[in-house]
Amino acid sequence: MVEFSLPKNSVLKKGKEFPAAEGVVNIRRFEVYRWDPDLGENPRIDGYDIDMDNCGPMVLDAIIKIKNEIDTSLTFRRSCREGVCGSCSMNVNGKNTLACIKAIEDYDGTIKIFPLPHMDVIKDLVADMTNFYAQYASIKPWIDTQTPAPDRERLQSKEERKKLDGLYECVLCACCSASCPSYWWNSDKYLGPAVLLQASRWLEDSRDENTGERLDELEDPYKLYRCHTIMSCTDTCPKGLNPAKAIADIKKMMVVRQQG
Ligand code: SF4
Ligand code: SF4
Ligand code: FES
Repeated sequence: MVEFSLPKNSVLKKGKEFPAAEGVVNIRRFEVYRWDPDLGENPRIDGYDIDMDNCGPMVLDAIIKIKNEIDTSLTFRRSCREGVCGSCSMNVNGKNTLACIKAIEDYDGTIKIFPLPHMDVIKDLVADMTNFYAQYASIKPWIDTQTPAPDRERLQSKEERKKLDGLYECVLCACCSASCPSYWWNSDKYLGPAVLLQASRWLEDSRDENTGERLDELEDPYKLYRCHTIMSCTDTCPKGLNPAKAIADIKKMMVVRQQG
């Protein structure tokens, strides 16, 4: 049997412990991945016992409390705290999610927090999104038109607009892409579920006039066809979207075009 082992400098070490203050009774334990490239040390897991009587209800509230009151060196991304900016994506108890819309009470016992898996780590919970954003830019995420602009806006019927439901809500958090085994192994060539859902969003937009060119760009053994319908993407999306279906819809457009 093949055996895999981590490089020595990637092996997780036990880190620092931050016990709750004396007298605190309502405690929840958080274990958080920590890695600082400037220290030249292995990544470690720090343990924080949080006073839940003085903490907000969401996982992000606990992380912010740690940063504000216990350990200012903890590094993570966040902005809106409402599930709309997509920046607080991380892995909580084994599943990628947005920490600001995930309630602490949804978990039992210790809550374990890691950066998004299979992406390079910049520091602590901050994953490197450079490749992800470059792939997003590659699908031309804007309405591409040939015809001259009308005097006012380009209109859509209600039915045309409805086709964007389930697509426009994507906040580009990358939770789905970072949960996709195909993307783990081929993220340099496969676009992954998030970017393909976005590609579908522009393919479905009745105002866009570049459908043919968009499909030409995706007609590639890796960019689109590395999706093997494993469905982890749909299972993990914290916004309840279905990237696997969006990918299947693009594949259907390809078939229809070949037949037409
Ligand atoms: S359905 Fe496709 S995109 Fe989604 S996890 Fe599976 S292989 Fe990845
Ligand atoms: S489809 Fe869902 S999980 Fe994927 S990037 Fe968009 S919001 Fe995040
Ligand atoms: S902070 Fe904006 S989505 Fe969580």
